[in-house]
Amino acid sequence: MKSLILPSLLAADMGKLADEAKRAEDAGADALHLDIMDGHFVPNISMGPAVVAMAKKHLSIPLNVHLMLTRPDKYINAFADAGADSIQIHIESECDATETISKIRALGVSPGIVINPATSADTIIPLLPIVDEVLCMTVNPGYGGQSFMTGPLDSIQQILEAAKNINKEDLVIMIDGGINAETALLCAERGANAFVAGTFLFGASDMPSEILNLRESTTKAHPSFK
Ligand code: DX5
Ligand code: ZN
Repeated sequence: MKSLILPSLLAADMGKLADEAKRAEDAGADALHLDIMDGHFVPNISMGPAVVAMAKKHLSIPLNVHLMLTRPDKYINAFADAGADSIQIHIESECDATETISKIRALGVSPGIVINPATSADTIIPLLPIVDEVLCMTVNPGYGGQSFMTGPLDSIQQILEAAKNINKEDLVIMIDGGINAETALLCAERGANAFVAGTFLFGASDMPSEILNLRESTTKAHPSFK
């Protein structure tokens, strides 16, 4: 399976969001990652369903919506209506994860579960049969531009093993936070197959070649290709 590369719109120039989203698509992004923050689950406030709807209007690649909300269950409909192709909720949020994941699936949207760096992967292993994606945070969520944390590398490996145990080798194991050419490789070696990068990709002088390099190097480094 080829790695998926997802630029995070949080790192884009907010004064020209539509152009920036299009720039990521034209650079070869597999999907666009949109960070939704409520100022409660995380200290920061970012964007809402209107930005997802804007991206839907301008792009044809899938929209991957990462909900950093205390009550994501209350907003599933709004983000599905706005055009989200996948919706990821945090295990640390205050809702029934199993029920919310089923609700996302029932809306025709791909469900994902997210863990913070300090959260044990054990908390989400029971959910693997009902999700399409796991997102491992490699920074504490809330802001772009933070430094990569190595602690979650063991979680990535644990999730890959658990996915193999249930014959779900197509599980998307995504990582998010402080990702660049070096840190992406560390995660790929442990089993990550989807890579969110904000600062690194939107700040690159040549986004298309950075996306290509990330996809090729991480696909090669993934253990299932050895
Ligand atoms: C952090 C967000 C990330 C963020 C990553 O809370 O979930 O998606 O945009 O930004 P970089 O790649 O700059 O660490
Ligand atoms: Zn994110």
